[in-house]
Amino acid sequence: TRIIKNICCIGAGYVGGPTMAVIAQKCPHIKVTVVDLNAQRIADWNDADLDKLPIYEPGLADVVAEARGRNLFFSTDVDKAIDEAQMIFISVNTPTKTYGVGKGMAADLKYIELCARQIARVSKDDKIIVEKSTLPVRTAEALRTILTSTGNHVNFQVLSSPEFLAEGTAVTDLHKPDRVLIGGDADAEGQAAIEALVAVYENWVPRERIITTRVWSSELSKLTANAFLAQRVSSINAISALCEKTGADVDEISRAIGADSRIGAKFLKSSVGFGGSCFQKDILNLVYLCQHFNLPEVAAYWEQVIKMNDYQKHRFAKKIIDSLFNTVSGKKIAFLGWAFKKDTNDTRESAAIYVADELLQDRAEIHIYDPKVRAEQVFADLEYLQTHRKDAIHGVSLTTDEIKNLVKVHVNPYTAMRSAHAIAILTEWDEFKIYDWQKVYGQMLKPAFVFDGRNVVSKTELEEIGFHVYNIGKG
Ligand code: NAD
Ligand code: UDX
Repeated sequence: TRIIKNICCIGAGYVGGPTMAVIAQKCPHIKVTVVDLNAQRIADWNDADLDKLPIYEPGLADVVAEARGRNLFFSTDVDKAIDEAQMIFISVNTPTKTYGVGKGMAADLKYIELCARQIARVSKDDKIIVEKSTLPVRTAEALRTILTSTGNHVNFQVLSSPEFLAEGTAVTDLHKPDRVLIGGDADAEGQAAIEALVAVYENWVPRERIITTRVWSSELSKLTANAFLAQRVSSINAISALCEKTGADVDEISRAIGADSRIGAKFLKSSVGFGGSCFQKDILNLVYLCQHFNLPEVAAYWEQVIKMNDYQKHRFAKKIIDSLFNTVSGKKIAFLGWAFKKDTNDTRESAAIYVADELLQDRAEIHIYDPKVRAEQVFADLEYLQTHRKDAIHGVSLTTDEIKNLVKVHVNPYTAMRSAHAIAILTEWDEFKIYDWQKVYGQMLKPAFVFDGRNVVSKTELEEIGFHVYNIGKG
């Protein structure tokens, strides 16, 4: 087996940063260099103050503190890192295309292609290229075509090793993965490349948890895993709507069905809708692939997972407006949470953005508190939605001034909730459970409403205080 001593990772984001930090932590004999075009991001990764790391993940600062400067480096010198590395991970972003062929559906592979061209241009010796980004099936083939096009006689092996970490638990997921997946070619060179990567992971992951497959199975496994996970959330959310009509309790149903070992208890928490940078993007990508290969029934089946999620976000916003006597115009609504889940500062595709937009359409005043999301991010998210409204979202675009007038971001939850007509809980941050709800009630306008989009606070306790409480899936 080729012993890897030097790794480069292109892309210092939510995947590249934590994944490489853990590889460096667990493999002190390997030099790991993470590179990015974004100089600010690299500066933040190098900041002496670990609170300034660009990504918030529980436990990440300790891992970075242990390895940074020893065998973990962050740099903007992409060429140098490529040149020195024996193995190159690509973990750049692969967002949904916003233009041209496949707009709104297909994954945009332009950043991947740029990486491949740069690797082809710079490389002087044999390299193993690892796809860490989530990619449509058969991307490895396209990568190989670009890599070998320069005719510089460098031998490239392309592996697919999709990342399964979830944000908020990235460090534990990387330390103790359910499995690591590595796809490669069936020939001897392909197998040797697989073994080189297996040897890296074997420094801390038991061999039986490392699954090796052909490249295309590996690529498609990632889209399939995310489609299945998101499907469970949409399935339980569909049932939550029925619960509200019938008087059943969706959390009781999750417990009852989750006890069946064939179903399993995880990923059955009904919510205001899933968010995050992966689920929607990857399912749309899967749907696009099915359409491309002329499988309309399969495409429609998976597309329904997204439609149900859009319905769930809309249903929550509509519930707020309906309950507040059919208008929220000029009313103060406090948002607890803006991130797409707890324990992360990531807001991509967060349900909060869409719920806020629907309320802003009705001219609500929104006061937001999130323990980890900065005000600039909230405004950037809302503005981004306005510019992309024509593509997917109904309603009229709001101007920057209108958003600035209607939205306030707070650093203290109690000031966000003071004099509010209603509170909407959008993220399941633990601290929301231990607020002094009696005090909050005393400072709010009456009747005081709580719309709990994550079922985190106790409905009975809050009702005893005097709140009107709406939960997801509780009739
Ligand atoms: P991200 O946007 O946080 O990070 C990507 C980084 O790549 C950015 O900092 C960007 O500046 C950099 N970049 C883009 N093109 C570059 C280039 N040519 N050279 C150097 N740097 C470049 O994205 P992410 O959340 O880390 O996701 C990366 C990939 O991993 C995506 O394909 C995603 O689907 C996949 N993934 C994400 C998660 C997750 O939880 N976020 C989990 C599993 C897989
Ligand atoms: C997901 C996959 O879990 C991970 O394996 C993959 O690598 C990247 O995509 P992530 O998006 O970071 O990870 O978080 P995840 O925990 O999957 O949550 C996604 C969304 O679903 C969040 O908005 C979360 O709140 C929501 N969710 C999750 C529910 O509403 N109910 C649940 O039971 C679980």
